[in-house]
Amino acid sequence: MMNGECAMTAKIYKVGVIGAGAIAQALHIPGYAKAENCELTAICDVQQSCLDEVKEAGHDFASTYSDWQKMLAEQELDVVSICTPNCWHKDMAIACLEKGIDLLLEKPIAMTLDEATEILAAAEKSSSRVMVGFSHRFQGANVAARKAVQEGKIGKLYMARIRFAHTGPIPGWAKSDWFYKQAEAGGGALLDMGIHAFDLIQWMVGSVTAVNATVKTLRKDIEVDDNAIVNLEFGEDCLGYIDVGWTSPSGFLGVELMGDNGSIIVDYNAEEKAVMTVGTMSPDGTREMEKTVLFRAGDWEEEGWPAEMTYFTGALDGDKPFDITLQDGLAALKVAVAAQQSSDSGSRVVID
Ligand SMILES: NC(=O)c1ccc[n+]([C@@H]2O[C@H](COP(=O)([O-])OP(=O)(O)OC[C@H]3O[C@@H](n4cnc5c(N)ncnc54)[C@H](O)[C@@H]3O)[C@@H](O)[C@H]2O)c1
Repeated sequence: MMNGECAMTAKIYKVGVIGAGAIAQALHIPGYAKAENCELTAICDVQQSCLDEVKEAGHDFASTYSDWQKMLAEQELDVVSICTPNCWHKDMAIACLEKGIDLLLEKPIAMTLDEATEILAAAEKSSSRVMVGFSHRFQGANVAARKAVQEGKIGKLYMARIRFAHTGPIPGWAKSDWFYKQAEAGGGALLDMGIHAFDLIQWMVGSVTAVNATVKTLRKDIEVDDNAIVNLEFGEDCLGYIDVGWTSPSGFLGVELMGDNGSIIVDYNAEEKAVMTVGTMSPDGTREMEKTVLFRAGDWEEEGWPAEMTYFTGALDGDKPFDITLQDGLAALKVAVAAQQSSDSGSRVVID
């Protein structure tokens, strides 16, 4: 080293994970384990079996806990992932914010607007940065579609649709049946799947200003809804609809965007994942359409969950706010809450 130079060592972030269930094991923990700037410092779960699964997968956290408050009190953590059932998000997020810990908070940020408002108030007073786990924003096809819309490639949007559906979180995914309990989840498919759709459609199109929805428990014997259809208004000139469910073994999964000059279809199951069609009609009625593939499977080295973690762990270095904010989480929750109100009342609900 020359005189006057000082050795710069990269910061290593002490990571804590609260909730060692399905999403922690599939997304958060592998992402931190891969990141050179992160150290697996502490993990907490009330089920020992989940902690055992993490260890068996080869992820050795320095400390394990069954009490998240004890973990936060004993450890000096730089960053925490909150991966517990929705009923815990508010208390855990506020406790981390009060300690100045950066957060990756799973969706939905909270079960109600009151809870969400409490989190945002705590964030105002905190030095922490928060990212919300809206993982669909890291699908390459969605990124390509949004870029094309922003560049005006299909003209002014007048219609948008998202369908997200699968067979439900249990059996086969979650570590208990909390998703199907109102007190722990705060809602069903509308809040679980819909929240992703409401975030994604507002990210692509703009703010939803009113909704008209039907939310039903059609096929599962559970406390919460398993299917929902939500009609959306984006101001005066654009409509949309969201179709989400927990009872669908197959079918279209993706996004459809219609503009004055063409359309973009994002089909999660296709090889050509984002396809744009633009066209003109000549005075004699001849249509000339041109198809462009905006994104193909494999175009990015990683997308979706791994890309989310690469972004998040990378963004820890530096002091810029993370890309997906609590305000985004609140904006999506507002649409979900309005949709439930609309379904309950049988009337259109305006979102301020
Ligand atoms: N971004 C996505 O694509 C995505 C996908 C699935 C789930 N999620 C969200 O992630 C969160 C967790 O969902 P999941 O599918 O992993 O559920 P899960 O049931 O598989 O995991 C939840 C874990 O939290 C643990 N837990 C419960 N209460 C706890 C407490 N008080 N302290 C510590 N641990 C506790 C449970 O034992 C369980 O291991 C939910 O908010 C869900 O909406 C996001």
